[in-house]
Amino acid sequence: MPSTSTLTVSFAIRPAMVADLAAINAIYNHYVATSPATFDIEPVSEAARREWFDAHVNTGFPVLVADAGGEIAGWCCLSQWSPRKAYKTTADESIYIADAWRGRGVGKALLGAVIDEARAMGVHVVMAGVVGCQEPSLALHRSLGFVEAGRYEHMGYKFGAWHDVHWHQRHLWRE
Ligand SMILES: CC(C)(COP(=O)(O)OP(=O)(O)OC[C@H]1O[C@@H](n2cnc3c(N)ncnc32)[C@H](O)[C@@H]1OP(=O)(O)O)[C@@H](O)C(=O)NCCC(=O)NCCS
Repeated sequence: MPSTSTLTVSFAIRPAMVADLAAINAIYNHYVATSPATFDIEPVSEAARREWFDAHVNTGFPVLVADAGGEIAGWCCLSQWSPRKAYKTTADESIYIADAWRGRGVGKALLGAVIDEARAMGVHVVMAGVVGCQEPSLALHRSLGFVEAGRYEHMGYKFGAWHDVHWHQRHLWRE
């Protein structure tokens, strides 16, 4: 890092900083309000976002952003899957791209970079829980080598409908 893409407009992938948290939260809260991609119903507060960031810093799990000349185009992170020690090398991945930046290669670049980070920190398995109706996210994860490991039906109720979660795994140890 940093890496760059010039698909439409250039952007750099870099670790997130405290100064990015408002943009990270605005991107996320857009999907809280408009999409079943996240099962949050209420917007995440600035204080809760700061706690989330500090927890990532303290546990050593990365939060990456795509920085397009000072505008945050999207973010991707790894989180601890479980505090139980035997899960230490399993990570949970999340990715959200600003609506205006979707379909321009930002997601693929960020997810690729976070997989590189996972490999570098010794993660064995990266998990991604993708809501079944989110075809772009399903396609993105498949395109970067995630395989579906199972479907949990009716895991969340949002916008008047039940939603399934399709769990995907990327097995770094098989590479
Ligand atoms: C899903 C998401 C992360 C994809 O990011 P993106 O920057 O729009 O995706 P990219 O432009 O990098 O495209 C990467 C791949 O995703 C897939 N993809 C992206 N948009 C797609 C669409 N509208 N339909 C189908 N596949 C799509 C394709 O496989 C594409 O690869 P290709 O260009 O080689 O065919 C983004 O759309 C997003 O933030 N969606 C809302 C939130 C969300 O669903 N987050 C994931 C929670 S698990």
